[in-house]
Amino acid sequence: MSPNNYIHPIMALTYTSYLKIEELLNLQQLQSPNEHDETLFIIIHQAYELWFKQILHETDRVMTLLEQGEINRAQHSMKRILTILKVLVHQVDILETMTPLEFLSFRDYLESASGFQSYQWRELEFVLGRKSEAPMLRFPEGSEIRKKLEKRYHQKHIWQVFLAYLKKSGHNIPEQLLKIEAEKSVESSEEVQQILVNIYRTDTCITQFCELMIDLDEGIQEWRYRHVKMVERTIGYKTGTGGSPGVEYLRSTLFNPLFPDLWAIRSSF
Ligand code: HEM
Repeated sequence: MSPNNYIHPIMALTYTSYLKIEELLNLQQLQSPNEHDETLFIIIHQAYELWFKQILHETDRVMTLLEQGEINRAQHSMKRILTILKVLVHQVDILETMTPLEFLSFRDYLESASGFQSYQWRELEFVLGRKSEAPMLRFPEGSEIRKKLEKRYHQKHIWQVFLAYLKKSGHNIPEQLLKIEAEKSVESSEEVQQILVNIYRTDTCITQFCELMIDLDEGIQEWRYRHVKMVERTIGYKTGTGGSPGVEYLRSTLFNPLFPDLWAIRSSF
């Protein structure tokens, strides 16, 4: 039988049913009557959210593997995260093909919707050690989103898990740092910096993992920079749909490292 006249049995899994392609292609619903560029705007945001989901899935794995002492396998997942992050940064180019007027053709229809409300972005910030209650409290108490954020907020972040791994591998991380509440953002520590300097001189495997962490940190900063320039060229200095001062607010989020100790040690060699 040629592939053309082969008929699938009714219940057989197909590409379309497995990947829920019909549902997926029905998720791009314009707010404007029919502005051409709104489709791109929706698809690109949805693509970002899918990749955020995958990154969160991989960061969970990295932390589990570190807890199990499996740094080589954790490195493998880190490399995948970094590859996705490069795509995320690159994807900005696509949206930058949209001129300010093209964006304006549907901007008013967005009302107060904004990337500011991306709860997966906030989950990611929490996982990476940037803990702040404010973005979580904007979601109604008891809602599914709020519960997801609360769970992440009260979970240890990747830097805390990494320090615990260092302790288990025989490095003398101070007890008080290991006991810090999960809800605390990453803070720099001179004691940790001294240990890291020693690791860089003596332990290739952990050094490689540190370098992947700094790639991750730099990648997130790069995304923030590309996003703010995209915003500047698209809406200039107007306020954001999410109600912030826009570019001015976004600039305040630039150049803040996730893992300050990994940056601080650079001048020690
Ligand atoms: C023309 C395109 C875009 C414009 C004009 C724009 C504009 C803005 C503005 C003005 C803010 C500040 C909050 C506000 O007042 O609304 C913001 C925040 C944000 N946007 Fe965008 N954005 C664009 C595309 C994107 C895309 C494609 C993503 C991908 C998910 C995204 C994700 C975010 C995130 C995560 C924040 C919060 C950043 C933070 O608080 O650190 N934006 N955006």
